[in-house]
Amino acid sequence: MQEFLSFKQLTLNDVSYSVGTTQILKNINVTITKDEGITGIVGPSGSGKTTFLRLLNKLISPSQGEIILNQRYQYSTQPSRELRKKIGLLHQSSFLFPGTVKANVEYGPQIWNIPLSFEEINNLLRKVDLSPLKYIDRTVSDLSGGEKQRVCLVRTLANKPCVLLLDEPTSSLDIVSERIVEETLGKLVKEDEIKIIIVTHSLEQTKRLTDEIIFLKNGKIETQASTKEFFSTYSENQIIDLFKKEKITNGRDNKSE
Ligand SMILES: Nc1ncnc2c1ncn2[C@@H]1O[C@H](COP(=O)(O)OP(=O)(O)OP(=O)(O)O)[C@@H](O)[C@H]1O
Ligand SMILES: [Mg+2]
Repeated sequence: MQEFLSFKQLTLNDVSYSVGTTQILKNINVTITKDEGITGIVGPSGSGKTTFLRLLNKLISPSQGEIILNQRYQYSTQPSRELRKKIGLLHQSSFLFPGTVKANVEYGPQIWNIPLSFEEINNLLRKVDLSPLKYIDRTVSDLSGGEKQRVCLVRTLANKPCVLLLDEPTSSLDIVSERIVEETLGKLVKEDEIKIIIVTHSLEQTKRLTDEIIFLKNGKIETQASTKEFFSTYSENQIIDLFKKEKITNGRDNKSE
């Protein structure tokens, strides 16, 4: 793992994930590269998007198949903690620890005995448009939802990840906070060369932010295409159909298909 300093690509070879007899992800074959820019994971509720990100963060392991990093490292043989540091995940419902913004940001690096300097914390806060002077000593329970979400993002960034996995990071935010987070993500790609893989329900956000789309449906990849290609291939009604035809099965495989 020591040699993994930059991200080039992730490949899923025939990956399936089951809980008991329920297959949640089915025979996924896909390669996600740095060169393709921001990758959006899109699909109806229950299609397996969060499960997909959890696999990439090695919070869970495939029941079948293998995930390979940079054409070289098999996930199954990599230490999970090191991998999670480099491939950071911002959860769908993140929570902050009680305490100050500073304490939350310092937490991850502290686990690795890497103290963050005052300047580093300030720079991280500036990245998400939070004024260090105003926010560094604030108690997190007093922050607004949008501010909390940005602190969660900073906390993930404090580990200096090469890849950022984001699970619907703006779904509970108002339009202004949403745009701030989107601008931050754009900057992270350009200035810090971080690869972003983002789960989103919003087609508008997909259009604005992503360069490629992986559309998941019933635990399978319906399509992988550049965002431009996706929106020129499917009409708006066809895209709505893609979402509609999903049968929500509460995790049970749909036997009638
Ligand atoms: N540990 C588990 N045990 C049983 N079923 C599970 C488990 N984890 C996920 N599932 C089921 O797998 C399916 C996919 O879940 P997942 O959370 O990945 O969907 P999603 O696409 O992220 O949905 P949403 O858009 O609503 O967040 C769902 O039907 C869910 O109930
Ligand atoms: Mg989800």
